Amino acid sequence: MYILAIESSCDETSASVVEMDDPCGTDAKAPVPVRNILSNRIASQIPLHTVYGGVVPEIASRAHAEAVSALTYDALREAGLGLSDIGAVGVTAYPGLIGALLVGVNFAKSLAFANHIPLVPVCHIYGHIAANYFTHPELKPPFLALVASGGHTSVIRAKSYTDFETIGRTRDDAIGEAFDKVARVMGMPYPGGAEMDRLAYEGNAAALKLPSAAIADDTLDFSFSGLKTAVINHLHTLEQKGQSYNRADIAASFSEAVVSSVLKKLDLALRRTGETRLVLAGGVAANSHIRAALEAYCAKHGNIKLYLPDRALCGDNGAMIGAQAYFEFLRGVRADTTLNARAVME
Ligand code: KG4
Ligand code: ZN
Repeated sequence: MYILAIESSCDETSASVVEMDDPCGTDAKAPVPVRNILSNRIASQIPLHTVYGGVVPEIASRAHAEAVSALTYDALREAGLGLSDIGAVGVTAYPGLIGALLVGVNFAKSLAFANHIPLVPVCHIYGHIAANYFTHPELKPPFLALVASGGHTSVIRAKSYTDFETIGRTRDDAIGEAFDKVARVMGMPYPGGAEMDRLAYEGNAAALKLPSAAIADDTLDFSFSGLKTAVINHLHTLEQKGQSYNRADIAASFSEAVVSSVLKKLDLALRRTGETRLVLAGGVAANSHIRAALEAYCAKHGNIKLYLPDRALCGDNGAMIGAQAYFEFLRGVRADTTLNARAVME
């Protein structure tokens, strides 16, 4: 079936048409299921927010409102389909910036109900996980997922396509937020995560000893705020003393601390749950140091199979929402005209 999906939870407006089918159900011996992206239009607002050093919610909502209609038209046209071909409209309903979400939800509602198409609300975080179904059509739950983005850091057990249990989370900053804040203090434009990734190759990871973001208890929780603050305090102290620093060394040391923290908690989560599939998702899933470390970990532990999403599908996009909408649709999830957006998970 064809699904039209709308994403507007943060600073990217996206409209996508995906084709999803499981011709022989979820039988393990069934042929590889259909997971096609026919269009995935993304309008990034980053240039609008860069001057402020972060996302300004009011500007985000307005930019979504301006973009969503034309993007949807373009997504349908690129897919070569009309609304009458669409079996369901999927929309990110939570979590995210409330004003930004409301733009997508209200647009999707109007489109779906005016055209008598079922409307399916989708959780943004589960959408990030579902991006992996395009890169790995053979991927099936159960699996363990790390969702690492600018707004979220969660260790999630996917028991089925639609049944998730969050078994670990950040207690403060999200992983991408920490990358962006450290980058900002070093004078890099928002969002600095990708530039930190690149810069880390040029530096010495042992230059600065940093605290772990893996909380030293038997939970699967993280605290990226302490790690971020340690770096920022170090930089401020150097500045006050009039001493210069090597940005690449800072990026490499920070990256090393993030990678070892992630590995520590994922190792614990895998051992505790007994899961044998590990999925990475979210904007920070594009980070090459985290990807390489997880590849090395899984090569060492031959019983764990790793699934990394295409880099193009790591950031916010409509296709991932369409993939998750498909599974929610199969489960019978439908929204009526009272559908509202929600800033938080619960
Ligand atoms: O998933 P996403 O597009 O938006 C949210 O749902 O938050 O993630 C955006 C985040 C930003 O913090 C950005 O700096 C970070 O992902 N990011 C990276 C990389 N590419 C994007 N962080 C580290 N390394 C990267 N290569
Ligand atoms: Zn996201």
